Amino acid sequence: MKHLLSINDLSEREIYKIFEYASQFEEVLNRPIPIVPSLRGKTLLTLFYEPSTRTQISFTLAGKRLSCDVVNLSFSTSSLRKGESLLDTVKNIVKMKVEGIIIRHSVAGVPHFLAHHLDNENIFVINAGDGINEHPTQALLDAYTIYKKFKNLKNLKILIIGDIKHSRVAHSDILIFKKLGCEVYVSCPYSFLPIEFEKTDIPHIINFREKLDSFDCVIVLRIQRERHEIGYLSSLREYHLLYGIKKEDVNKMKKNALLMHPGPVNWGVELSYDVLEDKRCVILDQVFNGVAIRMAVIFSLFQFQGKI
Ligand code: CP
Repeated sequence: MKHLLSINDLSEREIYKIFEYASQFEEVLNRPIPIVPSLRGKTLLTLFYEPSTRTQISFTLAGKRLSCDVVNLSFSTSSLRKGESLLDTVKNIVKMKVEGIIIRHSVAGVPHFLAHHLDNENIFVINAGDGINEHPTQALLDAYTIYKKFKNLKNLKILIIGDIKHSRVAHSDILIFKKLGCEVYVSCPYSFLPIEFEKTDIPHIINFREKLDSFDCVIVLRIQRERHEIGYLSSLREYHLLYGIKKEDVNKMKKNALLMHPGPVNWGVELSYDVLEDKRCVILDQVFNGVAIRMAVIFSLFQFQGKI
C-alpha cells in the first residue's frame, strides 16, 4: 500500500490489519491525553478543493494524535487561486519536506494523477474523495463500524439507499463490502442508478420497506445535489416519502441492525430527525471511528515507506 487511492488498493488482509490498528488507536483516543509519539517529526498536508467538515478535521486530528505536523491548505486561500497548477503547487510543497498528501477534489482521478507524478518522490497520496469516483477512508470507517458490532462481515446483508450514481461513498462502500464477503443491495429511483449497474450482481430493490427486517445494516446516502447537472428528482418531498427513512422504518429493522449515514445529512430528506434517538442509529459513532481509521491509514502508509 504505497498510496490509498481506491479500496482496490487493499487486500482483505490489509483491511483487517487497518481495523486492528484502528482498535488500538481507539484506546489512545479514549485516554485523557489522546496522543502518542508514533509519528513525531513527520509532516502531512491536507489539500481540499471541495468543502468538508468530517474528513478534513478527522484527518487533521488523526495526524495530530500521532504527533505528526499537519498543514491544511484550501483552494480559496492558496496561490491555486492565482492560476498555479496543482502539480506545481504540490512539487513546491514536497520541497518543504511534506511526506504525505491527503487530497479531496471534485474531479475523479486527481489523486491518481498526483500519485503518478510523484512516483519518484518519497511521499504518499490519500484520496479523501475524488468527484463521484471513490472515498476509500469513508468506506473503511463504515466497514469498521460494522466490524465493531458484528466482528465478521462475511454474509452480512447490507442495504444502501440513495444517490448511488453520484456517491463516491456508495462506490467505495460497495467495493469494500463485496471484498469482505457481504451481500450488498441498493435501493433508489432509477435516475440514481449508474448506467453500468445492470452488469453487476448487486440487486436493485424497488420496495425496500417490505424487506427492512432482513438487513444487518442500512446505509443511507446524501442526495448529491451539487452534482445534478439536470433534474434527477421530481420533488424532494416525494423522495422523502418513498426513500426517506423514518422512525417507523427503523422500528421494522432487526433489533441489532445498524442505521448509518456518512454525513452531511439532509434532515427531512434522506432521514427524519426522530431516527437519531434510536440506538441502532450510529451516525456519530461513524464520526468517532473515522479518526481511529485515519490514524491507522496514516500509520500504515508511513510503515510501508519504512519510516517507522
Ligand atoms: N462524509 C464526508 O465525507 O463528510 P465531509 O464532506 O464533511 O468530509
